[in-house]
Amino acid sequence: MSRPSIAISGQLIKVPTNRFIVSKSDLNGNITYANRMFMEISGYSEAELLNNPHNIIRHPDMPKALFAHLWKTLKAGMEFFGYVKNCSAQGHGYWVFAHIVQERDADDNIVGYSSFRRGASDDAIAVLEPMYQKLLQQERAVGPDAAWKQWEQELATQQHDYESLMLALYQKSRGQQQKANR
Ligand SMILES: Cc1cc2nc3c(=O)[nH]c(=O)nc-3n(C[C@H](O)[C@H](O)[C@H](O)COP(=O)(O)O)c2cc1C
Repeated sequence: MSRPSIAISGQLIKVPTNRFIVSKSDLNGNITYANRMFMEISGYSEAELLNNPHNIIRHPDMPKALFAHLWKTLKAGMEFFGYVKNCSAQGHGYWVFAHIVQERDADDNIVGYSSFRRGASDDAIAVLEPMYQKLLQQERAVGPDAAWKQWEQELATQQHDYESLMLALYQKSRGQQQKANR
């Protein structure tokens, strides 16, 4: 099934930072498992999710280049860390910090992927929203590959690559959260 066309509401759902939204996929990104939290936040039932591609929750604000990077990272055998804006069945956006890892069989072959997502902090969203918007505009102008290269060059001037920026934002928001909980 291809992604249903959903009217975007413009509303944002706040995802709790202390509960995981978990899903697993086969090698092509088709959903093989989703936990209750995934269903609660996305607004899809288990039957609507299982065997369907993860792009069922893709938000149109997300640049293509970012998903190309996600797949390149996973196919290279590395774990992916990144902030992603997803779209619920009701058309609401929800920002998560995702960690995706390979699932391996007893012979160490990659047989699928698992994603563990937490709610993104307002601070991280405030930094990333304009960056992703710019990337989206750039890729409309010059294509995803060239836009990603340009972005990587800009990040390099700040001593960052995509992963290090994502992890820096995540660690900053975790630090702030821990301070607030003290
Ligand atoms: C385990 C796993 C979890 C994923 N989670 C998401 C997600 O939360 N949101 C999303 O838009 N894409 C997610 N993706 C990427 C999708 O497979 C897909 O590449 C993306 O939605 C872009 O859709 P498109 O390739 O059809 O343009 C995930 C992929 C894998 C392997």
